[in-house]
Amino acid sequence: MASLTIRKLDEGVKTYLRLRSARNRRSVEEEVRVILGELIEGREEPLTPFSAPPEASPAPASLRSSAVPEASVTLIIGGGIAAFKSLDLIRRLKERRIEVRCVLTKAAEQFVTPLSVSALSHERVHTDLFDPQSEFDAGHIRLARDCDLIVVAPATADLMAKMANGHADDLASAILLATNRKILLAPAMNPLMWNNAATRRNVAQLQRDGVLLIGPNSGEMAEAGEAGVGRMSEAIEIATAAEKLLRPPVPRPLAGKRVLITAGPTHEPIDPVRYIANRSSGKQGFAIAAAAQAAGAEVILVSGPVDLDDPAGVTVKHVESARQMLEQVQSALPADIAIFAAAVADWRVANEGEQKLKKTSAGMPPLQLVENPDILATISKLADKRPPLVIGFAAETEHLIDNAKSKLARKGCDWIVANDVSPATGVMGGDRNTVHLISKNAANSEITVDSWPVMTKEQVAIELVAHIVKSVTHTSVDKSANKFSEPAS
Ligand code: C5P
Repeated sequence: MASLTIRKLDEGVKTYLRLRSARNRRSVEEEVRVILGELIEGREEPLTPFSAPPEASPAPASLRSSAVPEASVTLIIGGGIAAFKSLDLIRRLKERRIEVRCVLTKAAEQFVTPLSVSALSHERVHTDLFDPQSEFDAGHIRLARDCDLIVVAPATADLMAKMANGHADDLASAILLATNRKILLAPAMNPLMWNNAATRRNVAQLQRDGVLLIGPNSGEMAEAGEAGVGRMSEAIEIATAAEKLLRPPVPRPLAGKRVLITAGPTHEPIDPVRYIANRSSGKQGFAIAAAAQAAGAEVILVSGPVDLDDPAGVTVKHVESARQMLEQVQSALPADIAIFAAAVADWRVANEGEQKLKKTSAGMPPLQLVENPDILATISKLADKRPPLVIGFAAETEHLIDNAKSKLARKGCDWIVANDVSPATGVMGGDRNTVHLISKNAANSEITVDSWPVMTKEQVAIELVAHIVKSVTHTSVDKSANKFSEPAS
């Protein structure tokens, strides 16, 4: 019979199942069986609307972010005096939003009771390989695979010997043999047992097999007057090690770097209700901000009017016009890296109307245009606060590479990301981009052109950030020189 992997269900369904099983004091698997049984008998409970118990409100969506565990562990508790610490371990894992399903060996039941373990884990405890309730659909296989990690604590000398030799004569050893998940052992035994040649051989074999160990620590034993290596690691140490395996730290290569980005169009007012604008969506600049933030940078995004959500963890300054954009950029300096992705209007109206311009018989009002400040060129040419890496964009409709190269020289930036924005490409406002990265070698001023294949704007952002990571030095600018405010809430 096919087995159902609860972990792979939609978040909403999982949340519903968890709430319902908690309400009915059943394990999630049991709840699924009950629901299926009810469906087959034609007396199913409606799946929607779901009348959650009052404390379960608000709706599942809000639960997803905070309450629902993101990882799960099968915890095998072996038979040793250290088993009492495993009760604390369950609590520590759950504190870290790790779902715990426990398996007790027969010997473990001499030290802790299934009742206390199930009360702490809020799940049914598994003890028997031949339990008809669990095994009708090969429950030991589910315990072995429907988790992200298996932790054995305490891992006794006997349990490790069985593992090293591939035994499967009880539920714990069968799970350990049937799993394809990582296994973390927390050995606990008398120092003489730990140092025994047989245990040494078994530990060496298990390590060759890829099994991970935490501890044992050295200290006093439960046996009066004995001390040495063999004490099980503390629950908090095991929980921390498990969490590291489940959620490996994300690399943050731009940590400590401050990245300033402009994005979107600018709106240049004609009068209080009209403005000059362009078709920029801001998507590329926003994607770069998100990618730089994900790489660990402190990101300040100065954005013209766009229809996009502020990227999480990024300080966003919303502006309208080119002059406001320049002002915000200047006050955000110093920065380690500045990326000018905004489609800044080249001109603004010099004779901006204070009141709404009226249609008159005298004909159209003459609009006088004046040049806007070039933000990229201004920042590239700064004497003191010039960011060590300044990147501009060149949106061209013809002679892309040549125009971009001369822009690099004219504006004084280090790199130009050139893209063809002729209407046929669909780049303006679209989700994909084809770019060429034109960079100037700082040492010999040699220009390199690197053409990338067509990508989504998110992929372009990730690729650009990867190039930045490769190129940035390990020196940071002095951030005390300029204060900046926290992200708007
Ligand atoms: O001259 P052009 O508008 O083609 O230059 C494009 C590059 O210069 C982009 O990086 C854009 O953000 C920047 N730019 C600017 N201020 C302007 C005009 C363009 O920062 N006034």
